[in-house]
Amino acid sequence: EKSGYDHFMLKEIFEQPQTIFDSLRGRLDAKSGTLTLGGIREHAAILSQAKRIIIVACGTSWHAGLVAEYMIEELCRVPVEVEYASEFRYRNPVVGEGDVIIAVSQSGETADTLVAIESAKQKGAIILGVCNVVGSSIARLSHAGAYTHAGPEIGVASTKAFTAQLAVLCMIGLKVAQEKGTITQQRFQHLLDELDAISEKVATTLKLNDQVKQIADKYKDARDFLYLGRGYNFPVALEGALKLKEISYIHAEGYPAAEMKHGPIALVDENLPVVFVATRDSYYEKVVSNIQEIKARKGKVIAVVTEGDQTIPGMADDVIEVPAADELIAPILSVIPLQLLAYHIGVLKGFDVDKPRNLAKSVTVE
Ligand code: M6R
Repeated sequence: EKSGYDHFMLKEIFEQPQTIFDSLRGRLDAKSGTLTLGGIREHAAILSQAKRIIIVACGTSWHAGLVAEYMIEELCRVPVEVEYASEFRYRNPVVGEGDVIIAVSQSGETADTLVAIESAKQKGAIILGVCNVVGSSIARLSHAGAYTHAGPEIGVASTKAFTAQLAVLCMIGLKVAQEKGTITQQRFQHLLDELDAISEKVATTLKLNDQVKQIADKYKDARDFLYLGRGYNFPVALEGALKLKEISYIHAEGYPAAEMKHGPIALVDENLPVVFVATRDSYYEKVVSNIQEIKARKGKVIAVVTEGDQTIPGMADDVIEVPAADELIAPILSVIPLQLLAYHIGVLKGFDVDKPRNLAKSVTVE
């Protein structure tokens, strides 16, 4: 069942070219320039008239929601908020008719997310589910939705569900943007082409496995890690830090790179590995100066960059090169080395990466 892999987590990381492909299949047709999301077709008008969109999720799914916030605001010009389901539920939020809630959940059974959408539904909001498990409670409670087709995820650490969520949320953003007329035909087609090419690039990225394993060996004894990124890569930094915490029990924090100088920079010394998610995008120059700030304080920099980067390799201690992609979908690639890094550090430290201590696959208590 692990198909020759040592752990489900590694198997699931390596399944990503296929699972992303499966999530796009039958929906995206780059050749004809069409995008069909059967599950939201009837609600496309409501979605495009939404005054705002609220994304509700927990953990890794919440990180996917953060990427979607950037995507949807950019593509659809509608305000998007991303909420921790537990906080959203218990603070008596202002929500009602005209609001669209997107609930993102691999299992579709996460109690916090489920109760959050139950109450929003009662108040008149339209609920869209982005779930992986077909027929799950959240999927059933939603008015409409689009499944991620990542297949069963066994490893407690979510990996392939995350990249499938990013692919599906991007398609939802594109569909709404098309409906609203907030995207040019050229940009729409470009993003379809980019999505169409992403599985192949994920396969290329997975070839970095041995290199990432060496980096894992070099840093496995660190006590803390910092993960930094900006823009679309900021949630990737959060996700990288969460993966490391869960699997290797090393304390790790993710931050938007620029926030570092508002506090966390005090932690930096020669013992602190700082992982930068620094692919070529509109934030690139700014990230380069953040790297300089870390190096000036003797931090160890591990950078995930775009293939062919001329600047960062001269500054960083370790560099991981991923294929170029449009910044909207670059997180699908940049997260992969971080999944592998957490995996290898966990394995090198002798931990049960498929069943980390204190964690359950789905959290069905509030
Ligand atoms: O099934 P869900 O996507 O609703 O689960 C949400 C979180 O519990 C989940 O992502 C958790 O954070 C994972 N262990 C992360 O790897």
